[in-house]
Amino acid sequence: MCGIVGYLGNRPALPVLLEGLKRLEYRGYDSAGVAIRTATGFQVCREVGKVAALEAKLGRDVAQYAGSEGIAHTRWATHGVPAERNAHPQCDDHSGIAVVHNGIIENYQTLKKALEQKGHVFTSETDTEVLAMLIGELYEDDLETAVQAALREVTGAYAIVVMCESEPGVLVAARKGSPLMVGLGHEEFIIASDPSAIVAHTQQAFALEDFTVCRLSKEGYRTSNLHNVPVTPKVMQLEMDLEQIELGDFPHFMLKEIFEQPEALRNTLRGRIDTDRGEVILGGLELVGRDLVRAHRVVLTGQGTAWHAALVIEYMLEELARIPCEVQYASEFRYRNPIVEDETVIVAISQSGETADTLAALEEAKMRGATTLGIVNAVGSSIARLTDAGVYLRVGPEIGVASTKAFIGQVAVGALMSIYAGRRRNLSIEASRRLLTELNGIPDLIAKVVAQSASIHDLVAKYVSQENWLFLGRGYNYPVALEGALKLKEISYIHAEGMPAAEMKHGPIALIHDGMPCVFVAPLGSQHDKVIGNIQEVRARGGRVIVVASEGDEEIVPHADEIIRVPACSEIFSPLVTTVALQLVAYHAAVLRGHDVDKPRNLAKSVTVE
Ligand code: F6R
Repeated sequence: MCGIVGYLGNRPALPVLLEGLKRLEYRGYDSAGVAIRTATGFQVCREVGKVAALEAKLGRDVAQYAGSEGIAHTRWATHGVPAERNAHPQCDDHSGIAVVHNGIIENYQTLKKALEQKGHVFTSETDTEVLAMLIGELYEDDLETAVQAALREVTGAYAIVVMCESEPGVLVAARKGSPLMVGLGHEEFIIASDPSAIVAHTQQAFALEDFTVCRLSKEGYRTSNLHNVPVTPKVMQLEMDLEQIELGDFPHFMLKEIFEQPEALRNTLRGRIDTDRGEVILGGLELVGRDLVRAHRVVLTGQGTAWHAALVIEYMLEELARIPCEVQYASEFRYRNPIVEDETVIVAISQSGETADTLAALEEAKMRGATTLGIVNAVGSSIARLTDAGVYLRVGPEIGVASTKAFIGQVAVGALMSIYAGRRRNLSIEASRRLLTELNGIPDLIAKVVAQSASIHDLVAKYVSQENWLFLGRGYNYPVALEGALKLKEISYIHAEGMPAAEMKHGPIALIHDGMPCVFVAPLGSQHDKVIGNIQEVRARGGRVIVVASEGDEEIVPHADEIIRVPACSEIFSPLVTTVALQLVAYHAAVLRGHDVDKPRNLAKSVTVE
């Protein structure tokens, strides 16, 4: 979603800010803007569209933007359409305060009314302008004090960076519920909503905590809460390096990340498997592992792709650890008055660790006394910090908007957790050894799927003009069917539905018409014969059947119009292999249709609003 970059130092601010905005482009946005303090006051430039459009606008009079202090933003519209007037930075009506803001000020209408009664005139529909105006209204002679006072009146979520016309050399940043980091460079600060905009300059940084305000100046920084009580931030080394967030030889981040999956999975598994002892080592679970093992019920929650991973993990935990599980959309869990008993464990799954719905569900579960665990990729993210314990994915930064390697990491961590809990309940050492040995070999199987990218491209080319696709699977591959459909629709804009293969005949079968592509995820497994039955139902109605099938499965051949072969493995691990084939189907469909795979329309990488 929205992205923030701020700079205070000795270098020209504009190139640093624009480069930072480009690093944040993957998050999804519809307008961009920048404000620089110059010798003659603030210079603000905003434009609808990509950062390139902002650059083009700036290009006409870039000399006017000389200065070594500034703030910049990419906006994903919430309050008000994408328009120049609604883009950030937003200023107060005396142009004394400039603000960039991620998040939503929930009581902005009440605040706006009060400010209008005091004579303030608004020029945008944004909640951010209200915040700028409020800070301006409360400003006496100190920006930090005014920001603290304004934020005491605000409800909602925010990450902000503020500049004040009469306080050169000072930036004030603050956070509640939306991430913000301060990078500590050599005699300079780079503030950003995402470490990818910082790592090119420094690896040293700290994340602001909720309700923390940070004042940055040439003399240094200080952090405090909204009542000016000092808070000490934890400075850390960012683990991300530039190579991880650059394309290299790949045309898109999504393809790069699909190809990275064998290595990403090796990183997820490294040091966590002891095949000799049939043991899983999860340091993150040390303190609360017992709660998981003794749980009477596990609720897995997340959104989108993470929710699909939860469905796979539900099957794994029930099969291997025999713990009753259920999967709930975080957005539903939060508002449905959920039952949380003493022995309920909530597992929140999230790549970004910042998804607002998942965060809110977690807060609700915590408030009701549940033990909370996280399966998270982004280290130090809000969800990672809020949970009692958890296991990181370690798949590296995911830049492509369509989640790929995070799904593989989530399912793999779910498998590790299931074996961990299973061993402490009813899984034999022999069974555990066998599973862990096989899991260790899955990265090599994924590499074989990835190697088929070119042939999957050719197959997809035959069907890419079709506007409606079905994805069907059973058991462990039912969530994979959902994931395949989501991947296809989000980047190629083809309408796709995923469902359990048996569900099709309860209604959706009416959709099937001559030539409609129906993708069956049907590796060898306990329900193989049943899937073949469902395939026949589709073929009898003219559907074109594309099967993701195991190597060596000859039985499938007469039933399929097209086959994508994947290496055979145990049913329980098959989603780690079959999903990769569907990621490639979606990727090639989108590219063949001419879409920008890494910046799909309307989508944001990290959904930080409810
Ligand atoms: C789909 C996708 C989204 C995310 C969802 C949750 O490709 O990326 O569906 O999976 O928005 O995001 P995280 O995992 O960051 O909580």
